[in-house]
Amino acid sequence: MEQKEIIILGIETSCDDTSIAIIKASNKKPKFKILSDIVSSQVEIHKKWGGVYPTLAKREHQKNLVPVLEKALKKAGLFKISNSKPLISNKISNVKFQELKKIFEREESLFRKLKIFLKKYQKPNLDLITVTKGPGLEPCLWVGINFVKALASFWKIPIISTNHLKSHIFVNVLGKKPLEKKDFPAVCLVVSGGHTLLFLMKDFGKYKILGETRDDAAGECFDKTARILGLEYPGGPIIAKLASQLKQADRDRVSISLPRPMIHSKDYDFSFSGLKTAVLYAVKKKYGKAPLRSAFSRTTEGRQYIKQMCVEIQQAIIDVLIKKILKAAKDYKAKTIILGGGVVANFELRKQLKKVIQKELPNVQYLIPNIQFCTDNAVMTAVTGYFRWKKNKKGEGWEGIKADANLKII
Ligand code: KG4
Ligand code: ZN
Repeated sequence: MEQKEIIILGIETSCDDTSIAIIKASNKKPKFKILSDIVSSQVEIHKKWGGVYPTLAKREHQKNLVPVLEKALKKAGLFKISNSKPLISNKISNVKFQELKKIFEREESLFRKLKIFLKKYQKPNLDLITVTKGPGLEPCLWVGINFVKALASFWKIPIISTNHLKSHIFVNVLGKKPLEKKDFPAVCLVVSGGHTLLFLMKDFGKYKILGETRDDAAGECFDKTARILGLEYPGGPIIAKLASQLKQADRDRVSISLPRPMIHSKDYDFSFSGLKTAVLYAVKKKYGKAPLRSAFSRTTEGRQYIKQMCVEIQQAIIDVLIKKILKAAKDYKAKTIILGGGVVANFELRKQLKKVIQKELPNVQYLIPNIQFCTDNAVMTAVTGYFRWKKNKKGEGWEGIKADANLKII
């Protein structure tokens, strides 16, 4: 008989957050229930560098994975200490640990921590483990993949690997009715720290790339321009916050004017590095140097200038994104518009996009994730893994799973 519900563990380590989630998926609809969703953020560590430093991020994932897994299992009620009789004999367990050691050739410390964990706790009631295989920072992806390979081989649980870009889009099914044939074609935009990608989903599994950024991603532009203004990493949330603090009357008086690169181009590509350079020149012209010192933002003049700049940077990015989504949705007669990725957490973007769609494309369905599922998380990995698993109800051969830093959508 077909299993009605499956419990999925999702792991996501493609960038700087160590995320583990456990969800229950009911097969019929499908419907998802989040049992736990733990994100261990490395923001404080990367702030110093003004961006993510891959080797450091990898080390943090190695430190965090076991404690985050413990937390996720505890929260989901799946955490049981092994009873006095070990579940497997010492002899078998030694053979198994030898297998694990091979997986962790270059990750000794993680192997040691995981070994203690696996000896102490019982196999949890999980049906599937999913992990991001790309795109992302290769060293970080490998830590997650090796960790999952070890768990799956030790506990004998199937694995499915997932595409981070699709995960940012598929997370939209949470709490909403699933997409049906009538909802296609869908125009999808992933807009994050690493990607600005517009693609068409003609049906489940049928994708066509429409356009992407030729240089910096939109989130990267938020991060880099924030740095020029002497603001902390990540730039998106702080720019959004400071922009929102400028009163409407002062907003209307903002005299800074930044370019909207490629806004009128006939294709669906993006480019944000020119916007970053324009901010750099504007700051240098006004103050003779850039980046601004962070102390400058504590002076009255500094605060006002930075807020004005934040309003204009945010608006320039929003204008370009909205223009391209609308153009693609109209050109391809989209039935649905779907967004995902860290930048979609931006309140102004959400508000303005909703308004334009309601006005210009009132019959088009519009999906954006709840704020907490815009930035990287493992719930999205588990949901996407579920859809891959559903096709033939089998895992992948775990030995063959490899990190792919440049994994494409098709
Ligand atoms: O999806 P995500 O967590 O990681 C990647 O896959 O890149 O996105 C992180 C990006 C960062 O560049 C961050 O500045 C941006 O999302 N971001 C925002 C906001 N919150 C996060 N950008 C604009 N407004 C926000 N509120
Ligand atoms: Zn992401």
